[in-house]
Amino acid sequence: MAGKAWRSAVCTRIVLGGKKSIFVLFFSQLSRVVGAAKNETPQSRTFIRGIQTVTLIPGDGIGPEISNAVMKIFEAAKAPIRWEERNVTAIRGPGGKWMIPPDAKESMDKNKIGLKGPLKTPIAAGHPSMNLLLRKTFDLYANVRPCVSIEGYQTPYTDVNLVTIRENTEGEYSGIEHVIVDGVVQSIKLITEQASKRIAEYAFEYARNNQRASVTAVHKANIMRMSDGLFLRKCREAAEKYKDVKFTEMYLDTVCLNMVQDPTQFDVLVMPNLYGDILSDLCAGLIGGLGVTPSGNIGANGVAIFESVHGTAPDIAGKDLANPTALLLSAVMMLRHMGLHGHAKKIETACFDTIRDRKVLTKDLGGNSKCSEFTEAICQRMKDMD
Ligand SMILES: NC(=O)c1ccc[n+]([C@@H]2O[C@H](COP(=O)([O-])OP(=O)(O)OC[C@H]3O[C@@H](n4cnc5c(N)ncnc54)[C@H](O)[C@@H]3O)[C@@H](O)[C@H]2O)c1
Repeated sequence: MAGKAWRSAVCTRIVLGGKKSIFVLFFSQLSRVVGAAKNETPQSRTFIRGIQTVTLIPGDGIGPEISNAVMKIFEAAKAPIRWEERNVTAIRGPGGKWMIPPDAKESMDKNKIGLKGPLKTPIAAGHPSMNLLLRKTFDLYANVRPCVSIEGYQTPYTDVNLVTIRENTEGEYSGIEHVIVDGVVQSIKLITEQASKRIAEYAFEYARNNQRASVTAVHKANIMRMSDGLFLRKCREAAEKYKDVKFTEMYLDTVCLNMVQDPTQFDVLVMPNLYGDILSDLCAGLIGGLGVTPSGNIGANGVAIFESVHGTAPDIAGKDLANPTALLLSAVMMLRHMGLHGHAKKIETACFDTIRDRKVLTKDLGGNSKCSEFTEAICQRMKDMD
């Protein structure tokens, strides 16, 4: 990054009372964040033959129940996956730094691929969100959420078929906040060339590999000219390298308006962190909510963790009432990421057919069945396919 641009990105002017102003520099934090973004290129590991080991983090609340459901369905599908189960709770490392347990980190470092249920974030426990810690530990820079209408599960929208790709490591989530003086707080939105280039190229690569026709960059470069401007510039540069994929750019507010009017006009959308956080939940709402939306976090060096994005649902935990669809569809995404397309298709078809049939559904999907009954119905469909 050019020195001048870099200086302007980290030197922030705070105007106090209209006259006085302070310039604030944050070199140490920024170099730390930027350091993590260096030398990374989008890539994914492809496993074709043999049984592959995947790290399974069942999580809290309904996590173990829905993880068991996924394992059962994978067994019925004869998916060539061996699960290595690890619990993830925050522990204090040397110097008091919060970290995930070493055996979970070793497992992920070795296996590269993980499947994760929901993790509770205890309020006032003193440690950061475990989901954030996992993202940081494995530099999971791209959050990918396909939102596709599910036949038989009615929402006000039909034919939604889009994918949100959210930059996962910086933007407003850089964790750089300061009290400047009493009553004045500064929060830094950090956008770097490396991270913007990496996510932009990932989005185009994803579109190309998944037979998607267009990528829309979502931004507010009219207001945040420098930060979103840099993000947008990297998207335009990536578009030049992927001429086979159509590129459009749109303001975030316009995307929100158009999305609720007619989501079918969108295909792949790529955006900075905070916009992605909000827009990906909005899109999940179009197809029925977080209970049916899969998600994958793609990292550097082939590491990827696939996860359900709903919470631990403490109100129904341990009651055999949870809907395992989100975690199951995340696991299907994982299979595709590993190149196991046949098994992915088989499980996905059995799941969608079961929902379309509407005979065995969990309560949140409008039925009266238990998690175990819904799971069994999917397993039975796969047996019938053999
Ligand atoms: N990705 C994650 O790990 C993640 C995401 C969100 C919240 N959380 C954590 O989860 C805990 C509870 O959060 P919350 O109550 O705000 O949100 P929640 O998603 O756990 O629950 C909201 C509502 O949705 C229902 N629900 C959620 N998932 C369901 C499923 N698979 N099947 C059927 N019903 C389901 C719940 O019963 C509840 O009524 C908190 O500790 C929070 O920090 C974790």
